[in-house]
Amino acid sequence: MGQNVIFMLLAMVYLLINIVTSLNSSTDEYALLAFKSQITSDPNKILAKNWSQGTSFCNWIGITCGRRHQRVRELNLADMGLGGTVAKEIGELSHLRSLIISNNNFHGFIPNEIGKLSQLQEIEMQYNELTGSIPPTFEFLENLLKLSISHNGLAGNIPNRIFNLTSLIEISFGRNNLSGSLPMDICFNLPKLERLRISENQMSGSIPPSLGACMNLKLLSLSYNNFAGSIPMEIGKLSKLQILYLGGNNLIGNIPNEIGNLSAIKYLNFGPNSLSGM
Ligand SMILES: *[C@@H]1O[C@H](CO)[C@@H](O)[C@H](O)[C@H]1NC(C)=O
Ligand SMILES: *[C@@H]1O[C@H](CO)[C@@H](O)[C@H](O)[C@H]1NC(C)=O
Ligand SMILES: *[C@@H]1O[C@H](CO)[C@@H](O)[C@H](O)[C@H]1NC(C)=O
Ligand SMILES: *[C@@H]1O[C@H](CO)[C@@H](O)[C@H](O)[C@H]1NC(C)=O
Ligand SMILES: *[C@@H]1O[C@H](CO)[C@@H](O)[C@H](O)[C@H]1NC(C)=O
Repeated sequence: MGQNVIFMLLAMVYLLINIVTSLNSSTDEYALLAFKSQITSDPNKILAKNWSQGTSFCNWIGITCGRRHQRVRELNLADMGLGGTVAKEIGELSHLRSLIISNNNFHGFIPNEIGKLSQLQEIEMQYNELTGSIPPTFEFLENLLKLSISHNGLAGNIPNRIFNLTSLIEISFGRNNLSGSLPMDICFNLPKLERLRISENQMSGSIPPSLGACMNLKLLSLSYNNFAGSIPMEIGKLSKLQILYLGGNNLIGNIPNEIGNLSAIKYLNFGPNSLSGM
C-alpha cells in the first residue's frame, strides 16, 4: 500500500517534469506560427517571406531571443502595416518581456492569455483598431513597466487592479472608449508612475485626490472625458509634474492655490470646463 503511494507520487513528479520541460522553444515556434496564421494583411510580405519554418525563429524579423536560451524575449512588429487579430497563443511565449505591435491595423480583442506572461515588462499596442475591453488578467503582470494601448476602440471599465501593479512607469489609455470612474485609491500602489494618460475617453466621476500620492508623476492627462467635481488640491503636491491636462471635462469650482506650487510645470491646460474664481 505505502509503496504504491510512493510509486504514484514518483510517477506524478516525473509527469510534471515532463510537462515543464516540454514548454521549451518548440512551444515558442508554435506560438509564433499561430500568431502569423492570424495575420490577414501583410502588405510588404514581411512575415510571409521571412517567418519561414526552415530557419530558426530567433532570426525572424521582429524577434529577439534570450542569449542563453532560444526563447523569445521581444516581439517587435511596430509600423509594418499588419492587419488581423492577435492570436491567443501569444500567451505561450512564456519568456516574453516586450510585446510591441503598435501602429498597425490589428482588430478584435486583446487576448486574455497575455495575462499569463509573468515576465512581461512592456506592452505597446497603441494605434490599432482593437476592440472589446482591457483584459482583467493584466492584473497578473507584476513586472509591467509600460502599458500603452491608446488610440484603439477599447470600451468598458478599466480593471481597477491594474493600478495595483507597483512597477508601472507608464499607463497610456488615451483615445479609446473607456468608461466608469477611477478608483479613489488609484495612487496608493504606484510609486514609480511617471506618465498617466487617459484623455479622450468617456470616463466619469471625480478626479481622485489620491493622485497626489503618485509622487513621480511628470505627465497627467485626463482631458476630454466627463470628469466632474473640483480639481483636487492634492495635485499641487506633484513636485515633478511637467504636463497637466484637465480640459474638456465638467470640472467646477476654483483652481486650488496649491496648483501654484507646481514648480516643474511646463504645460497646463484646464479649458474648456466650468471653472470659476481667480
Ligand atoms: C522541446 O520539447 C519537445 C517536445 O517535448 C522535444 O521533442 C524537444 O527535444 C525539446 N527541445 C529542447 C531544446 O529541449
Ligand atoms: C529574415 O530577416 C533576417 C533579418 O533581416 C535575415 O537575417 C534572414 O536571413 C531572413 N530570413 C529569411 C528566411 O528571409
Ligand atoms: C464609443 O461608445 C459610444 C457609445 O457609448 C458609441 O456610440 C461609439 O460608437 C463608440 N466609439 C467607438 C470608437 O467605439
Ligand atoms: C489593491 O489591492 C488591495 C488588496 O487586494 C485592494 O484593497 C485595493 O483596493 C487595490 N487597489 C486598487 C487601486 O485597486
Ligand atoms: C506651497 O509650498 C510651500 C513650500 O513647500 C508651502 O509652504 C505652502 O504652504 C504651499 N502652498 C500651498 C497653497 O500649498
